[in-house]
Formats: sequence, structure tokens, C-alpha cells
Amino acid sequence: MADLKGKIALVTGGSRSLGRNAAQHLADAGADVVITYVRNEEAAKETLADLIRRGVRAAAIQVDLTGSASLPRFKQAFASQLADWDADRFDILINNAGVTSEHPFGEIPEEELDRLYETNYKSLVLLTQHLEPLIRDGGRIITMGTGLTRVTFSPMVVYAGMKAAVETFTRYLAADLGKRGITVNAVAPGGIDNDFNADRFEKMPQMREYLASQTALGRIGRTEDIGPITAFLASDDAGWITGQRIEASGGFKL
Ligand SMILES: NC(=O)c1ccc[n+]([C@@H]2O[C@H](COP(=O)([O-])OP(=O)(O)OC[C@H]3O[C@@H](n4cnc5c(N)ncnc54)[C@H](OP(=O)(O)O)[C@@H]3O)[C@@H](O)[C@H]2O)c1
Repeated sequence: MADLKGKIALVTGGSRSLGRNAAQHLADAGADVVITYVRNEEAAKETLADLIRRGVRAAAIQVDLTGSASLPRFKQAFASQLADWDADRFDILINNAGVTSEHPFGEIPEEELDRLYETNYKSLVLLTQHLEPLIRDGGRIITMGTGLTRVTFSPMVVYAGMKAAVETFTRYLAADLGKRGITVNAVAPGGIDNDFNADRFEKMPQMREYLASQTALGRIGRTEDIGPITAFLASDDAGWITGQRIEASGGFKL
């Protein structure tokens, strides 16, 4: 297992699902973890208690990552949390928070384009820009891409486009921050059976079977498939990987 003792990680959207799982793996490796949430305070509290039970320091900060309005307040709250832990820098930024969308070409509402841009791309770029000076040399930045930038699935056209932008930003950032020894990589999961897809699967229960049938390893993804990969990329062992998109989809539509 990775050894992250003495490191501090920030996981956006760490209160639930993939972000929570990543936070748990980082904590198991010894990192202190700050998670963020937007609405679901109950889930954030549960995750916080879970992380503390794993023997590390943990904190939760509420922030709306739709656009940039909340970022200055968030940066202040995060810096103040670091100060409480006698730190002024951190090591690992997991840009995980994101939202989904489902409108095929021809039916894309302008507000939906704006919402996805604001939440999945704009805030990620600006948050990273705000926090980069606080990341220690040799640190790690990990973003969440998607298998849907490699293959097409019509209703996800807007979502996939924003994630393509995130994956490209990841590569550019890696080129820029290499001089500081900071690695930057994207994890690109396939479809996961969790909250993110709950409405979609409720409307189309056959979707689970369809996704499993299109996956080399014969099942739909689970939340716990992804956290270990994120934690690996955060570790010293992954220090020679940068600017990469690591797809973790069980071999979706190979
Ligand atoms: N699940 C999948 O199938 C899948 C596949 C590929 C990629 N991904 C990507 O993986 C990442 C995590 O997905 P997930 O499955 O864990 O999603 P999820 O179950 O919907 O959880 C989303 C997390 O992000 C937070 N969040 C949502 N909107 C936010 C906003 N406007 N501002 C700040 N935080 C916000 C949520 O906070 P609250 O708890 O307060 O709501 C929650 O912690 C996303 O970037 C997603 O695009 C997911």
C-alpha cells in the first residue's frame, strides 16, 4: 500500500461516492484529508467520521463549485484549515466534484451547457489556479475524466465534451507543473453503479445490463473500483506518471 503519512490531501466532492472512496484510500495510506460537499451535509459528516476512524485528521468544507463565486471564500477556509493543522501547504489535490447531464444533440438546452461548463470545467480550472501556489513541490493533482471521451454515447454529448476539456487541461497542466515536480493525471472511469447514475438507471433499468454487456470484464463499475487507482496516482510509486489519462472502465467498448 502507498505510504502517504505526513501528506495532506484535498478531495472536492469527497463527501460521497467516488470522492469518498478516494478519500478513504488516501486516509488508509496515512494522509490527512479535507473533503468538500455542496448540499449533503449528512453524507459529509458520515465521511468525516469514517476518515477519523481510519486514524487521520480530517475536515469538511462546504463549497458550491458552480462557477467562481465561492472560490475566494473557499480558499480562505481551506488555508485556515491548513493553519489549524500547522501547515501552509498541501500535497494532493483531487479535482473530483462533477455533475452529469443527459440531452442528445438537437435537444441541448443552453442552460445545461452553461451548468456543465461552470461546474465540471470552469470551477476546476479556477480552483486549481487558486490553489496551485499552496501545493508543495513534488505534489499531485488528479482530475476525473470519463470513458465517454474515448467512445460515444449520444445523450452524454455535453458531459463528454466538458470532460474532454478536463482531460486536455490535465495534460497541459502536467506540462506546466513538471518543473515543480508536480504530476497531473486524469482517472477516466466507465459507468459506475452509484448516486451519479441513480436517476438514469431508475428511468432505464436495462442500462446496467447493457453497460455490463459492453464491458470486457463483464460487469458495471463499482465505486470501490476507482479509489485505489486515485490513491496509487497520489503515491510516490506513481511519480514517473504525468500528463496521462488512465481509463478505469473494466474495458468498456474495447
Ligand atoms: N459515477 C460515474 O459513473 C462516473 C463515471 C465517470 C466519471 N465520473 C466523474 O467522477 C466524479 C465523481 O462522480 P461521483 O460518481 O462520485 O458523483 P456523485 O455520486 O454525484 O457525487 C458528486 C460529489 O460532488 C459534489 N458536488 C456536486 N455538485 C457540486 C457543486 N456544484 N459544487 C460542489 N460540489 C458538488 C457532491 O456533493 P453533495 O454530496 O453535497 O451533493 C458529491 O460530493 C465526477 O467528476 C464525475 O463526472 C463519474
